[in-house]
Amino acid sequence: MRIDDTKLEAVRNWVDTNFDLFYANIRGDNRWIYQIPNYETFKYPEEFLDIKYELMDMFGVPVYARQDRDIYDAIGVQIEGGFTHSHLDNNEGDNVHFRLNVLASKSIGGGMPIIADEIIEVEEGEPWICYSGIEWHSTTEVKGDKRRILLTYGFTLPKDDKFFDDVWNDYRREMFLV
Ligand SMILES: [Fe+2]
Repeated sequence: MRIDDTKLEAVRNWVDTNFDLFYANIRGDNRWIYQIPNYETFKYPEEFLDIKYELMDMFGVPVYARQDRDIYDAIGVQIEGGFTHSHLDNNEGDNVHFRLNVLASKSIGGGMPIIADEIIEVEEGEPWICYSGIEWHSTTEVKGDKRRILLTYGFTLPKDDKFFDDVWNDYRREMFLV
């Protein structure tokens, strides 16, 4: 499973020409973010939305999944020294927050997701899922002069949705279901 580089290239170019829309992420240095709470009034490259639908199809996200209202769909940029500290995203009541992610640009070193204490080695264009409301997640520190560009799409679904059937284990059930 891989996202076509021509689409990623279009998003990378859009980031270059629209970087004034990004703001410094208050959660850490060397990080910027641009959030897209809706596709009616916010600017975005059309390939960004194409990729969302492609990822939903790849991961079998049901069409009734709702847009998360914690982070929304977003583009994150990190340069050398940037990283994401370990955290959980906010769930919405009994609805679990999860995210589909893909790197439009992979840094020379670092920038890899860490999910539930495990480093996930991903290539540019190689998507992954993070059950971000129930799995602690972070990233390794970006190294080198090539920036990391993350495309991230957030959803919520009820905790008992069959989409999560393979996800729950005792540990997560303990922290969320009780
Ligand atoms: Fe997160």
